[in-house]
Amino acid sequence: MKSPVNEPPNWALPILAPSLLAADFTKLTEAVAQIDSSGAEWTHLDIMDGSFVPEISFGAKMVADLRPLTRSFFDAHLMIIHPENMIERFARSGADSITFHLEAAVHAHRIICAVKDLGKKAGISIVPSTPVPALKEILPFVDQVLVMTVNPGYGGQKLIPQCLEKIRELARIREEKNYSFLISADGGINSSTASSVREAGVDVLVAGEAFFKAADKTAMAALLKGR
Ligand code: DX5
Ligand code: ZN
Repeated sequence: MKSPVNEPPNWALPILAPSLLAADFTKLTEAVAQIDSSGAEWTHLDIMDGSFVPEISFGAKMVADLRPLTRSFFDAHLMIIHPENMIERFARSGADSITFHLEAAVHAHRIICAVKDLGKKAGISIVPSTPVPALKEILPFVDQVLVMTVNPGYGGQKLIPQCLEKIRELARIREEKNYSFLISADGGINSSTASSVREAGVDVLVAGEAFFKAADKTAMAALLKGR
């Protein structure tokens, strides 16, 4: 397997990225500390605008307020229309990686370049109904491809197993073309589904409910990562 592009540090794969969406929003300081002490490497920040997806979650101010509490790698997942208008705000708020949806972007390449010019890692995400070939032209430029394994909008949904084939397809293309993006999976990843997601070849596992509902978060982190 290729080493991740997102040095430093040199994370062992797979990386776990708990989603704060599943945390109690009145106890986010505690939630961030739980992520850190569990051994999870990243923090996944689900940004929802009530337009691209039905719900509204939180915005750049929340990310900025959380930033001083942890050194965790902040992985912002923008489920918003017109992501180009928000890139700079999230970069300034302390996100380390900014991922937007192909379905929400006309000029995806321009947005990727803007994210990189701001010194951040750039990711692209696809919903279950978008096929991998739609990403063809953008793959050489991205640091991360986030494969949605549920329809985005809510935590706690059931993983759609057919989406796992996209992880395999992306891993094949990466190998063939010698690209270096990380492959992430997001939605419905829990103790029953994580092994099939890992077997498909994922590098980053996002987990919301499975992580925050677990009594022993260190044990759950190890279980999800399979190590
Ligand atoms: C869905 C979000 C996911 C979600 C994952 O729209 O992008 O990141 O929070 O939650 P679980 O792991 O509970 O499916
Ligand atoms: Zn997400």
